[in-house]
Amino acid sequence: MAPVAVSELAPEQIVRLEETGPAVVLLDQRRLPDEVSEVRCTSAAEVAAAIQDMVVRGAPAIGIAAAYGLALAALRGDDLAEAERVLAASRPTAVNLPWALARMRDEPTPARAHTLHAEEVERCRRMAAHAAELFRPGTRALTHCNAGGLATGGYGSAVGALRAAAERGLVASVLVDETRPLLQGSRLTAWELEQAGIRHAVIADSAAGSLMARGEVDLVVTGADRIAANGDTANKIGTYSLAVLAAHHEIPFYVVAPTSTIDRDLPDGSGIPIEERDPAEVTDRFQARNPAFDVTPAALIAAIVTEDGVHRPPYAL
Ligand code: MRU
Repeated sequence: MAPVAVSELAPEQIVRLEETGPAVVLLDQRRLPDEVSEVRCTSAAEVAAAIQDMVVRGAPAIGIAAAYGLALAALRGDDLAEAERVLAASRPTAVNLPWALARMRDEPTPARAHTLHAEEVERCRRMAAHAAELFRPGTRALTHCNAGGLATGGYGSAVGALRAAAERGLVASVLVDETRPLLQGSRLTAWELEQAGIRHAVIADSAAGSLMARGEVDLVVTGADRIAANGDTANKIGTYSLAVLAAHHEIPFYVVAPTSTIDRDLPDGSGIPIEERDPAEVTDRFQARNPAFDVTPAALIAAIVTEDGVHRPPYAL
C-alpha cells in the first residue's frame, strides 16, 4: 500500500479553555459530520451537562473537558469541591474523568489543564506508534465506536493506531461499525478516516461476524473506557460481542488506550460501573434498555497497547 498523508483536527478545535469570557468551548460531536459547530460552556455545571449530553465524548476527551471545567470554576471563583462533584458525576464508566479531576485538585489552573491535554495527545502518538507494529502490509482492520482524535482531544487511540499504520503504508481498508444507537462509528470515525484519506466502509454492527467468516478482517482494534488491573476492558456496547466473534474466527482483538484509562484499583472488570443511558436513544416507542458499555474479558484480548508499549496476556497492568 502507498503510505497515506494523514491530516487531523487540532486539539484546540476539539476542546479548549478561553480565559477571556471565560468558557470551555467544545466541538459539538452530536452534530458531526453534517454540521461543524461549537458549544460554549460558562460554568462547570454546563461542562458537566455537555459531557452528559455527549457534546464531547470518548474517555480521554471527557477527562480533558472536565479538567478545563475545573479550571473554569477556579477562574470564576466558584466552589471547587462542588464543581468537581458535578463534573465527576456526569458519566460513570470512563475512569479518565476521575483521573483527570484528581490531577487538577492541587492546582486547578488553566496551565495544568493545558498540560494534561497536551500529555494525553502525546500519549496517543506514542501508543499509536507501538500499535502500528501489529499491522502487516495490506491489513484489513475493523473498528468499533469512535476512538479517534474527537474521543481523545487529538490524534486518537484506536484511530491513532490506524493513522500511524496508514502512514507506514500498512492499511488496505477499515471496516467501521456504525455503533448503534448513537452512531459514533458512522458519523465520527468514518468522518475522521475520510479526512485522513484512509480507505474505509461503514457496516451495520451485525455485519461484522459474517465479514469475519468471509475472511475480510485481519484484526480488530478498539479503544477503551476503563481497563481493570487484569486486563478486563470496558468499551462501547458491542465491543464484547466483537471480541467473541474475533476469538471464534481466530482474528486478533487489540485494545489501544492510554495509561489514564487503566484503573489499578479494580482487580477485574466486575467492578466497572456500566452507564445506562436514556432508553429513548434506542426507541421512544417501546420499553427499551440502553447499557452504553460492556466489559470484554482479558482472555479475549490479544494485546493491550498503551504509551508504554504492547502488553500481552497474562496482563498485570
Ligand atoms: O459513549 P462514548 O461515545 O463516550 O463511548 C466512547 C467509547 O466507547 C470509546 O471507544 C472509548 O471512549 C475510547 S476513546 C479513545
